[in-house]
Amino acid sequence: MVPKNNISINGQRLMGELEQLATYSDAPAPAVTRVLLTKPDIDARQFFEQLCVDAGLEFRSDASGNLFARFAGTHPELPAVATGSHCDAIPHSGRYDGTVGVLGGLEAIRALKESGLRPRRSIELIMFTAEEPTRYGIGCIGSRLLSGVLAADAADQLTDNDGTTFSESRATAGYAGPLTSVPLNDGSYAAFVELHIEQGPLLENDRVAIGVVTNIAAPAALRVTYTGTGGHAGAVLMADRRDALLPASELALEVAAAARETSSDDTVATTGVLDVFPRAINSIPSRTVLEIDIRDVDLEHRDQVLNRVCETAQSIGDRYQQKTSIRTISQDPPASCASEVVTAIEKSCQSVGVTRQRMISRAYHDCLFMALICPSSMIFIPCRDGVSHRPDEYAKPEDIEAGVHVLAHTLNRLAE
Ligand code: GLV
Ligand code: MN
Ligand code: MN
Repeated sequence: MVPKNNISINGQRLMGELEQLATYSDAPAPAVTRVLLTKPDIDARQFFEQLCVDAGLEFRSDASGNLFARFAGTHPELPAVATGSHCDAIPHSGRYDGTVGVLGGLEAIRALKESGLRPRRSIELIMFTAEEPTRYGIGCIGSRLLSGVLAADAADQLTDNDGTTFSESRATAGYAGPLTSVPLNDGSYAAFVELHIEQGPLLENDRVAIGVVTNIAAPAALRVTYTGTGGHAGAVLMADRRDALLPASELALEVAAAARETSSDDTVATTGVLDVFPRAINSIPSRTVLEIDIRDVDLEHRDQVLNRVCETAQSIGDRYQQKTSIRTISQDPPASCASEVVTAIEKSCQSVGVTRQRMISRAYHDCLFMALICPSSMIFIPCRDGVSHRPDEYAKPEDIEAGVHVLAHTLNRLAE
């Protein structure tokens, strides 16, 4: 039997697979665009399934397209320990967001198997459906369904910009059956741990190998629509206009101010979408749609900003005498990570001999929802300049390898 600290990671194999995965994309390299259940996403899913089967793992999918690969423990009747992340990628992003946790999770399991270790509990790798909100407007569809916070009907009725519902797209991709079968029973997993790039600069700046996540910030997402009156850009006099871009522009400035004027560095707010109709240079905008994302690890702080933005959106609309509609798309509570998982990660950093520090996650992850159903935490690794959601997103192979090494030890520890 191989000694327990002798788990070795095949970094070359993993980097080759990450490179292959990055080729499944609708954008030219180095950019990656892999939107839920488009061809690149389906190709990535097939690639992942083949790797899991080749690794001798039991593979299955659920009705929402979450993919599961199980390394059976010596006591398969016990709740398993889970790991995983996502492979969908927002338009024109990078190759490491999510994928490091999926293929890194697979490499961690292979490393345990190849070291001759067989833990008591099974270890289950999950590739979650649509962590990114690109296609259906909300993120973490798969983990929301698993944890029961998204109702089956509401998920099936989600509709993309082309009018295709989630019910239709999953059926076309071969994920059949009712979504009511997706939520996990209480106690399905003993623990969940997600490996991910930090998507911020702290680890790199502090020259620390591993971030151990204690809290995950949660976004509230709003959609604000202003309806004015369109018309000819030359013919309608300024005094007679109801230009819908004007309240939208003021609101975008107010969104940033609302976050900046809090006393907390942890509060952030972004207007990431501003659609202008009919979007013609010689036509007065008749309607604008803004999508606004507000986050904090502190629910009260986050909701104070949310309330201020809603009130401001309405009062700006009133001042411009335009119809104002404000809709909350999501408003999830932040997560606290489980101390036993945090401790298991820290002990594993010690076993592997790498530095670590506790930190919060400012990005959201599937772990936000897994934390609702089992003790959970995350392992962060540095990424260059903290850059993510951009084609130049980069994590060093040796940093990825260290993260996978810590993940393998953590899974083994939690599954013992
Ligand atoms: C996830 O991609 C996020 O927006 O935090
Ligand atoms: Mn992302
Ligand atoms: Mn991610």
